[in-house]
Amino acid sequence: MNSEKKEKILFVDDEENILEVIREYFEFKGYAVVTALNGREAVKILENEKIDCCFTDINMPEMDGIQLAEHIWRTDNTIPVVIMTGKPTIDYTIKTIKHGVVDFLVKPVNLNDMELCIERILNQRKLFIENILLKKEVEGKKRLEELTKQLQNKVDDLRILNKIISEFTEIGSTKDVFKRLVDMATEISLADMSKFYVINGAVNRIFETATCPKASGPEIDQTLFERLLMNVTADSVPFLVSENRCVEGLSGDIFSFMCVPLKIREKVFGLLTAYVTQGEVRFSEKDLYYLSFMTQNAAQAIENLALYENIYDNLFATLYGFVSVLDARDSYTQIHSNRVTDISIIIGRELGCTTEELDILNVAGRLHDIGKIGIRDEILLKPGKLTKEEFEKIKEHPLIGANIIKNLGFWEREIYIIKCHHERFDGTGYPDGLKGKEIPLLSRILSIADVYDALASDRPYRAMMDEKSILKYIQEGAGTQFDPELVEVFMKLYNEGKIIK
Ligand SMILES: [Fe+2]
Repeated sequence: MNSEKKEKILFVDDEENILEVIREYFEFKGYAVVTALNGREAVKILENEKIDCCFTDINMPEMDGIQLAEHIWRTDNTIPVVIMTGKPTIDYTIKTIKHGVVDFLVKPVNLNDMELCIERILNQRKLFIENILLKKEVEGKKRLEELTKQLQNKVDDLRILNKIISEFTEIGSTKDVFKRLVDMATEISLADMSKFYVINGAVNRIFETATCPKASGPEIDQTLFERLLMNVTADSVPFLVSENRCVEGLSGDIFSFMCVPLKIREKVFGLLTAYVTQGEVRFSEKDLYYLSFMTQNAAQAIENLALYENIYDNLFATLYGFVSVLDARDSYTQIHSNRVTDISIIIGRELGCTTEELDILNVAGRLHDIGKIGIRDEILLKPGKLTKEEFEKIKEHPLIGANIIKNLGFWEREIYIIKCHHERFDGTGYPDGLKGKEIPLLSRILSIADVYDALASDRPYRAMMDEKSILKYIQEGAGTQFDPELVEVFMKLYNEGKIIK
């Protein structure tokens, strides 16, 4: 007996004694054997047991072998069916083969032939099943690869969209928006060149405002090209030429082209264009989508910046108006503020201050004495020496100035620079008595510029000092009133003729 074989074979025949002989023989050979007297019984067995192969007689009561074969073909076509028949006619053969019957054995069946048949068809079945599994595995793998690719594409999409969003949220000024647009369009669509045009509706013309890279593009017929762009403007929808085959207005040197309108409040404000002039890259709908997403974000950024820049300009004008009011009382303040600003920026540049720091100096310089608006005329304009109390009042102006601006909710850093412009390097200044480098650098700069210009001007309480005395005063103040390093820089700039009274 072969104990390794455990395949389960179903034998169906209405002659019990035949089934008995078969059972005995094949169980001895190591197979699991199940028997049924007709098709109906066999179906029940098939519902409950896992059968590897079925041998069936044809003529049986209740349900014959052909019906059984059909049933098996419909429910599980991996179970091979062998028909055992006394008279295998051609008709039967064709009919049964159609229903998945794999072989015929002629009755009376020789057990040896039957065994060889079982071995053969079980082998075939094994291969068949392995093939199905393999196919499923290949299909599964392929599907997984597709899903991974789809997922990767989605991740890439999100990454690009996020990049676009963050690039336009971090932008600081309107002019940077155009440059950012062409840089990103080139990077994301792999274009050879990108340009941004602003539309001037009044003259119905386009003006190039940014380009990337800086190198000049292909020779194009400017009139035709402008007409093409103005058509896109009029249609107000993104325009894609994936493969340029003589599109009017596009030179033959442009292989692929995109043009996307940038709309602000539904009006076309500008056009973002991208060009392929060499290589195999061709733009697709996806590239067009990315460019459209860019222009939408850029439009939002422009609107926000315009709003901010407008508010900023208005605010500055208002505050500067305060300084003018002050100027009406004390004509010295506005001119003084402008000169202090200029001198501070000269010193700041020499020290290598960043553009941002120079901007802060510009605002802080112009507004540093704005707090004097809160000092009464009889003190502010008093000719002669101030009393101790009066001087205490004057000393309040850096804090008053800081508070005026603070109430408007802007210029955090400028406010602090203004507040500290009367601090002294030795810690005896006001309002907080800060010492040395505790005083912000820009306030230390402002302090020298302020004193230099104040001494060089006529004041209600004293005439202007002569140049020599002023420089002496400043040099003597190194380490007490002023930062000694800044005094050195100031003197250098003065001697070079860069600071002029
Ligand atoms: Fe001041």
